Amino acid sequence: MNVLDMIQKNEGYQIPDEYYTLSTEEMEKRVKDIKARLGDALFIPGHHYQKEEVVVFSDSTGDSLQLAQVAANNKKAKYIVFCGVHFMAETADILTEDEQIVILPDMRAGCSMADMADHHQTDRAWVELQKLFGDTILPLTYVNSTAAIKAFVGRNDGATVTSSNAKKVVSWAFTQKERILFLPDQHLGRNTAFELGVPLEHMAIWNPITDTLEYEGDDLNNIKVILWKGHCSVHENFTVKNIENVRKNHPDMRIIVHPECSREVVAASDDNGSTKYIIDQIEAAPAGSKWAIGTEMNLVQRIIKNHPDKEIISLNPFMCPCLTMNRIDLPHLLWSLENIEKGNIQNIITVDKQTAKDAVKALDKMLELA
Ligand code: 13P
Ligand code: SF4
Repeated sequence: MNVLDMIQKNEGYQIPDEYYTLSTEEMEKRVKDIKARLGDALFIPGHHYQKEEVVVFSDSTGDSLQLAQVAANNKKAKYIVFCGVHFMAETADILTEDEQIVILPDMRAGCSMADMADHHQTDRAWVELQKLFGDTILPLTYVNSTAAIKAFVGRNDGATVTSSNAKKVVSWAFTQKERILFLPDQHLGRNTAFELGVPLEHMAIWNPITDTLEYEGDDLNNIKVILWKGHCSVHENFTVKNIENVRKNHPDMRIIVHPECSREVVAASDDNGSTKYIIDQIEAAPAGSKWAIGTEMNLVQRIIKNHPDKEIISLNPFMCPCLTMNRIDLPHLLWSLENIEKGNIQNIITVDKQTAKDAVKALDKMLELA
């Protein structure tokens, strides 16, 4: 039975309704008590895009790179309850010891970007790209990808990338091969390569639906970067129009965006960088400074709350949080923890041994460079 069938039959995969009848105080008390009882046997990493009600219980909060690093370094916790999305929990499983158990509180916490590249598509693309370019391509994948895609990259001597270390990893890749294939986020790939000096005319797009290379130039030899046609459905919602509105209504505001935004948005903003970079920039800014931020809404709201001395708005006033990140809420966290105590653990994330063996090569290369 696959996961979808199990979810539909509600065979342990889904939270019982009674959790939604509990008061917040009751749930918080129970989570605190379980954390105290389990001590170091339990570790709760939480991504910056998680809801506040969950982040308050995280033992470590960070961006994708930081969470991959803390998972790799934690040898004590028997249970890692990952407050983030599926690909992050897979990464944690790959980087931790066999006896450590990684749990995702809600299996529906996926990532639409990661779903835009599957290994059947990369297998087909690789054959076609080898025909066109021979053995001149190094594959890189944003960590926002499935374990199977990371394994494909590892098997072909490439590396994973996060938004914090993309420039470092892409620079390294060009010391290995003449061109790169960047999966699955075309925007992070394009923005990073452009900032490293690769002109847009030297970039092409691989369309995994039609299995074709989209390129407007006439000489394939000029292509240095092949961008997978994927994107983040959250960050694509920031537009140049949003930037024009902020420039008009708040001319003294500094605009900072995540590099998952389109090239046009990044080019029109004042600064761009990873989740951690954005947090650090606002942290270091003087009181009274004004900011419009183009990234996920839970994080923007937390930044606003933590900096009452600064004027901060979302670049897009109609922006929503990442809906899949939001699947993890306090009831799901409590349910996961109570399942551990009952010895009835649900939603264990396990990556099969061969996939993990190949994927870890790509992750280790990144961690070595980061
Ligand atoms: P970072 O944590 O690398 O900034 O990535 C943002 C993101 O979209 C996570 O899903
Ligand atoms: Fe995926 Fe974008 Fe949500 Fe991150 S913010 S989990 S990339 S959909």
